Amino acid sequence: MKLTIIGSGYVGLTTGACFAEAGHHVMCVDNDPRKIQTLLDGNIPIYEPGLATLVKKNVVSKRLQFTTSTEDGVNYGEVIFIAVPTPPQPDGSVDLSYIEKVAREIAVCLDSYRVIVDKSTVPVKTGERVSQTIRRYAKAGVEFDVVSNPEFLREGSAVDDLMHPDRIVIGGNSDRALAVMQKVYEPFVAPVLVTDINSAELIKHAANSFLALKISYINALSEICEISGADVEKVAEGIGMDKRIGRSFLNAGLGYGGSCFPKDISAFIAIAEQLGAPLNLLKEVEKINAHQLNRFLQGIREALWVLKDKKLAVWGISFKPNTDDVRSSVAVNLIEALVAEGAKVTAFDPKGMEKFKELPLAGKVTLTESALEAARDAEALIVATEWPEFATVDLAELRDVMRTPLIFDGRNLLDPEAAASHGFQYRGIGRGTLPGLV
Ligand SMILES: NC(=O)c1ccc[n+]([C@@H]2O[C@H](COP(=O)([O-])OP(=O)(O)OC[C@H]3O[C@@H](n4cnc5c(N)ncnc54)[C@H](O)[C@@H]3O)[C@@H](O)[C@H]2O)c1
Repeated sequence: MKLTIIGSGYVGLTTGACFAEAGHHVMCVDNDPRKIQTLLDGNIPIYEPGLATLVKKNVVSKRLQFTTSTEDGVNYGEVIFIAVPTPPQPDGSVDLSYIEKVAREIAVCLDSYRVIVDKSTVPVKTGERVSQTIRRYAKAGVEFDVVSNPEFLREGSAVDDLMHPDRIVIGGNSDRALAVMQKVYEPFVAPVLVTDINSAELIKHAANSFLALKISYINALSEICEISGADVEKVAEGIGMDKRIGRSFLNAGLGYGGSCFPKDISAFIAIAEQLGAPLNLLKEVEKINAHQLNRFLQGIREALWVLKDKKLAVWGISFKPNTDDVRSSVAVNLIEALVAEGAKVTAFDPKGMEKFKELPLAGKVTLTESALEAARDAEALIVATEWPEFATVDLAELRDVMRTPLIFDGRNLLDPEAAASHGFQYRGIGRGTLPGLV
């Protein structure tokens, strides 16, 4: 099939490459000419494991192409996916102007039947608005259907998630469009759930909110563990062994961040309120998330007394491992707070430093070539992102390069016993009774 993706970012580009890999012919559109030029030059504007190889392979086989022209995209694909940003507004609701703009841009180019698929994460009832907008701006009588097909990929494993999804959700109100969508997903082996548009939209917000809720739940428990002397890692293990609950997303840490969870949770709260069915439960999830970082910072202040002019090393800038994405990263919020208190922050991230350099905060931080280099002469090390390579660091070498042996492990990544045996004072999250604590 011929498919078009409008918006070639983390979701659009990866989806396009995976559709091409599955045998479709794909045109990826983006209105950022620099991004398209980078792709036309054979480079990839983001880091996602396996993506570069997939893009190159499918460009060579002519199944994947790039353009800045929405008109070319609309003429090309029988299905047009929308994968543009849906950022938060100051009040927490979603800025839907990107979606509305693309709907208008598609409408004016429509000549014959197309299925227009919303892949961006949007509040329930957005599909209805997209449909109305296209109807208003399209030529009279032109046929189209709008479908919701939310995306569940995780950055860092997006290629695998797209090639082998847990489920495919297709929300549509027309049999014709649903039949087209079944064809799109024919090459993929995964359960397909067909729903109405509103349910599909709701599933995405509800799923992300549930995962955030799990994170906040274990984080709330981590505070109780610290006060009571229990170990949150054991508690998580014990809870997670119950198959009804499961161990995933029960990792105590600095809280959730990234380009999806914070905005999706606040968007869900906002739409629920607008609809007259407030989700106060999720407000608590947000509160716990903010409290977790504040608590951690307080622990650092308590141990170091004054942060001003102290050299502090931060390991990890990206919002999670295996990605270069630093959008709404808790690590960035943490660095910002330390810098605001006058600390001299030295930081290292295996993939996130290039994107971090685009932020004004980067000018106030020293970035280094390696994790050990960041820790050199530091008075404390803070682990902010759980990159696997940080877990295997030589602790003896780390101890040698640091000025004072203090570790604040915001992701419970390091082994506290091993750290203590190398002379470190170690403070994790919710690991109250372990030896060597600050
Ligand atoms: N990143 C994730 O892990 C993830 C996962 C699931 C869902 N989502 C959702 O997918 C959507 C896109 O997220 P993303 O992370 O890919 O964003 P992104 O910012 O990486 O990519 C969006 C792209 O759309 C382009 N764009 C904006 N307006 C356009 C227009 N009018 N025409 C053509 N291109 C346009 C931008 O230039 C950008 O390249 C969001 O709604 C997000 O919530 C993201």
